[in-house]
Amino acid sequence: MTKPILPQEVASAVVDPVAYGQWETLHEQLSWARANAPLAVAENHDHDPFWLVTRHADIMAISRDPQRFANGIRPTVLTNRDGEALARAATPNNDGHLIRSLVQMDAPDHMKYRLLTQSWFMPKNLKIVEERIRQIARETVDQMLAQGGACDFARDVAAHYPLRVIMDILGVPPEDESRMLMLTQQLFGPTDPELNRSREAITSAEQAIAMLNYVIADFENYFGALTAERRANPREDIATVIASATINGEQIPDREMSGYYMIVATAGHDTTSASTAGAIMELAKNPALFERFRDAATDKAGLIEEAIRWTTPVQHFMRSAKEDVAIGGQKIREGDWLMLNYVSANRDEDVFGDPFAFNPDREKNQQIAFGFGAHVCLGQHLARMEMRILMEELLPRVKSLALAGEPARVESVFVGGLKRLPIRFEAA
Ligand code: HEM
Repeated sequence: MTKPILPQEVASAVVDPVAYGQWETLHEQLSWARANAPLAVAENHDHDPFWLVTRHADIMAISRDPQRFANGIRPTVLTNRDGEALARAATPNNDGHLIRSLVQMDAPDHMKYRLLTQSWFMPKNLKIVEERIRQIARETVDQMLAQGGACDFARDVAAHYPLRVIMDILGVPPEDESRMLMLTQQLFGPTDPELNRSREAITSAEQAIAMLNYVIADFENYFGALTAERRANPREDIATVIASATINGEQIPDREMSGYYMIVATAGHDTTSASTAGAIMELAKNPALFERFRDAATDKAGLIEEAIRWTTPVQHFMRSAKEDVAIGGQKIREGDWLMLNYVSANRDEDVFGDPFAFNPDREKNQQIAFGFGAHVCLGQHLARMEMRILMEELLPRVKSLALAGEPARVESVFVGGLKRLPIRFEAA
């Protein structure tokens, strides 16, 4: 059977950071793919060919089968051919993973490492940090209201709140937060000229790898010092759990240790910032919805779940086939690389009625923004809780909310969302 090949405009869009910045055009291409070639190969000049997986059901099937669709073999985030070759040359065993965190691991390591912190992120444990999070939410709202009726919600509010929460849980003091924020934005959005370290567009794989290595070295220095400190003075925080963790009776190696800090420190805020800003954008556009959710008695769960579907902050992850597999009517060969496009799956007409409408009243919102299966987002309960608490604290204190300019999205293929959301508001 020959492999179906995607039209060039679809193949080009799904690898183009600018297309993710202008998401309407991207959605047109993804809708076309779902209807006409839901599992087909994207061929681009700079990238190895990969299967673009656009339907919800196929992404679920692949995600629930980590034995056959692995994370550790090829890059887990789209990387061009030169970038992958350079990363392989720059890493131990040529594995190409500049960072080795949960995301890059397969069985048996993956579950051993995941279990070290998993209980911290379960709803039962999160109750313990709920009051602390509420306090951070209140301070965040105070600061927003102090801005006197207008702000860039993405930059001034959404970027800081989840960062404070995750840093608090991790054990990083407030004075180091701005460094963490800058590093995360560089790690996740290095293609966006407004966010990368040099403030110029990255034009070559060498430049991208050099910048990423610089950012990773910064993280490693920081967390190396934190580990030493927590081993000497243990506390009730995740840094202490990671610093004192053992696997098979041994301390975890440095590379995996810094990878762990990095994934917790980074996965936990730009993502939640994006879904929080997305929720506020929709409320700012729709006064009736805003009125409804301002009421303290209105349950916020539907709003939160729909904002997460709507924004899909993590836009894709890659998997690699460990053996030949038939899926979605196609024959995937051992070694094939696949892009799980969550942006597309979260607009799948087969799963969501009227998928391009923002509707907090969906009966059973099967959004797949947190992924699925063995690697499903470790922080999903925390993300929902943070968003709920901020909405509970913020909405009743504001009596009007409106857009005050054009929102703008991050130009990144991986973690996306709003980088600018100008709003006007009146304190209640
Ligand atoms: C993994 C999305 C917030 C920590 C993931 C994955 C996705 C995702 C798509 C990969 C799932 C898969 O491969 O099946 C999101 C979104 C968030 C969010 C959309 C916010 C709205 C958080 C938070 C944390 C976090 C607050 C806090 C620590 C992690 C970690 C992993 C992960 C550690 C790796 C899990 C593994 O590989 O076993 N997330 N995430 N995320 N997320 Fe999140």
